[in-house]
Amino acid sequence: MMPAAPDLAAADLAAVTAQSASADTLSAAGARRALAQQFRAAGIDSPELDARLLVAHALGLDHAALAAAGARVLSRGEAEAIAALGRRRLAREPVARILGTKEFWSLKLRVDATTLVPRPETETVVEAALAALDAAAARFDALRIADLGTGSGALLLALLAELPHAFGVGTDTSLGALAVARGNARRLGQTRAAFIACDMAAALRGRFDLIVANPPYIRSGDIAALAPEVRDFDPRSALDGGSDGLDGHRTIAAAVPRLLAPGAAVVVEIGAGQAEAVSALFSAAGLAGARPRSDLSGVPRALVAKKATDGV
Ligand SMILES: C[S@@+](CC[C@H](N)C(=O)[O-])C[C@H]1O[C@@H](n2cnc3c(N)ncnc32)[C@H](O)[C@@H]1O
Repeated sequence: MMPAAPDLAAADLAAVTAQSASADTLSAAGARRALAQQFRAAGIDSPELDARLLVAHALGLDHAALAAAGARVLSRGEAEAIAALGRRRLAREPVARILGTKEFWSLKLRVDATTLVPRPETETVVEAALAALDAAAARFDALRIADLGTGSGALLLALLAELPHAFGVGTDTSLGALAVARGNARRLGQTRAAFIACDMAAALRGRFDLIVANPPYIRSGDIAALAPEVRDFDPRSALDGGSDGLDGHRTIAAAVPRLLAPGAAVVVEIGAGQAEAVSALFSAAGLAGARPRSDLSGVPRALVAKKATDGV
């Protein structure tokens, strides 16, 4: 019979694991409660969820298996592994970076120090792009797609998952990110994606039926004030949009008109409050009809535009 697990919700996990007698009776549920309590005390946003994900990861269990294993007494090694993950989170490392994976558009993507962790709000770009294609009845065509600043490949891989006959190219200046994106495509069995190193669209030729981008768009001067999870762990090159945050959008506006096929759309992610400025940049570059689409928080997050000569 298993020994009864004590209620360790208020215990300090690191202290518990330092004492072999206590560690011998630490349960999976007790470890989860102790971690959550530490995270809550440290002001971490989602303490219960983070604790559950980290304990499950340390034990190699999924959500259901962890729930069923609550009373299981942990070995000393398991307790120490959980404590080590807890220390990383307390140092504000995001859970996705600790796990090395993030779900985006229901795809499990690897991430590492060279890539942005894909954000849920970026799914707005996918929705806006698919809506633009649906309006043109093009979802089943042999489309050519470009994803500028592809990072983990999130946008391109999500779109290719929805567009069965499309081919896509993702660009990035980070060779590390390109390697991660290629690995993600391989693991997903996605053979219709290619990834190349270049400045946004500089190496692209020919015409594309859809161009998407989530460029860096934080003002350089605002980076120091970001949450530590972002400031200290996302690559600076994925965040820094220059003095007004719009350097990436400016490069895209200049490059995209020559690459858009007739009737094709460009869809870019924008930061809160950037819709007007990016619309103006696009309009000056001959991209018209810029319509913002809001994310689930109601923030205008994606801008959709076409070439002005397409009569939009
Ligand atoms: C905000 S992240 C977006 C990553 C990914 N598309 C996503 O949505 O999760 C911006 C990406 O653009 C890349 N990047 C920054 N400047 C670039 C440039 N001039 N040309 C190409 N990629 C660039 C960064 O390395 C980073 O991967």
